[in-house]
Amino acid sequence: MSTSPQIVFFDTTLRDGEQSPGCTMHHDEKLRMAHQLAALGVDVLEAGFAIASEGDLESIRAIAREVRGPRITSLARCKREDIEAAARAIEPAPLNRIHVFLASSDLHLEAKLRLSREQALEQAAQSVELARCYSDNIEFSAEDATRSDPDFLVRFVTAAVRAGATTINLPDTVGYTTPDEYKALFQRMQREIPGADQIIFSTHCHNDLGMAVANSLAGIEGGARQVECTINGIGERAGNAALEEIAAALATRRDKFPFRNNIVMRQLFPTSQLLAELISFGCSPNKAVVGANAFAHESGIHQHGVLANPLTYEIMTPESVGVPSTNLVLGKHSGRRLLEQRLRELGHPLSRAELDPVYERFTALADRKKAIYDQDLLGLLKPDHTTVSA
Ligand code: KIV
Ligand code: ZN
Repeated sequence: MSTSPQIVFFDTTLRDGEQSPGCTMHHDEKLRMAHQLAALGVDVLEAGFAIASEGDLESIRAIAREVRGPRITSLARCKREDIEAAARAIEPAPLNRIHVFLASSDLHLEAKLRLSREQALEQAAQSVELARCYSDNIEFSAEDATRSDPDFLVRFVTAAVRAGATTINLPDTVGYTTPDEYKALFQRMQREIPGADQIIFSTHCHNDLGMAVANSLAGIEGGARQVECTINGIGERAGNAALEEIAAALATRRDKFPFRNNIVMRQLFPTSQLLAELISFGCSPNKAVVGANAFAHESGIHQHGVLANPLTYEIMTPESVGVPSTNLVLGKHSGRRLLEQRLRELGHPLSRAELDPVYERFTALADRKKAIYDQDLLGLLKPDHTTVSA
């Protein structure tokens, strides 16, 4: 019996996410988040950048000691001290990985690293070889891959594969690429890199032009089998591809993406909520999948449809991603059907004749007040009602 190919979820909330402004977490917070990411079912958990600080190294080490399920990894530049720090940090984890990266674009090589292409090739190969001394699972990232000369990128990645890299990541470091370009890049790398069929290719998309998730999905169409992403899409600048959006897209559009993965969909919302609590900021209300309004329907037409059959305006159920239940917001656009249903749920089934005056009072109140709460509804049942909630 043949099974569908698997998409590996690589979560970098605690590394690329945590390094963005306002998203820093303390040791215990990182551990709590790491346990939740394990419950969510991520396959690879990038727990930090060990060389960045002693605190980072200790947090990664604690996660490697305590958290079971995901493969634990640390980022490392192509430097001996980085690789050794990463090795020390991930060592307690039975499943581990070292994630080595070096830029491949001329812009980064010249302006930032002052390296020639040939020097970069040599550094990449030597660093992967060194990392192999500490783990048999090595990921190599060609930073700024999408703005690199593709001919050089083939040579660069080939050198990393020959040196022993088992996963090759082609990051869209500055969120510059488009879905068609990104898909073509993966197709070309798989065609031209010797031994590509033994390698897992990975996406890593930033959201500077709002295309991080679309680009990740295009990467999958091009043959990538690992996606790097963060909870709530936190990350450098405009953020990284949001894990919950990729997972929901794969689940909802299995017709287009016939792949398996290990994400426990009902843990998406609780994970998003925990992160928001730990970093003290949540996502915007209109954020897909986990935003407060992601399943809220205010207009009467939409509410009527959802009550008749949720599929009219919902492509996935709130329960399927761990959101308690559909949130039909009572406001000035709501119809009498929703009002009648909510009052019934509150223990007040009304006949049509009883509902009419209550509905009239409801619309008058909704004109003055943005959101109508259950206490307001109970107040509306009395002819001389006054608004109770703030
Ligand atoms: O965006 C990027 O290129 C990265 C790499 C270090 C993987 O985060
Ligand atoms: Zn990144």
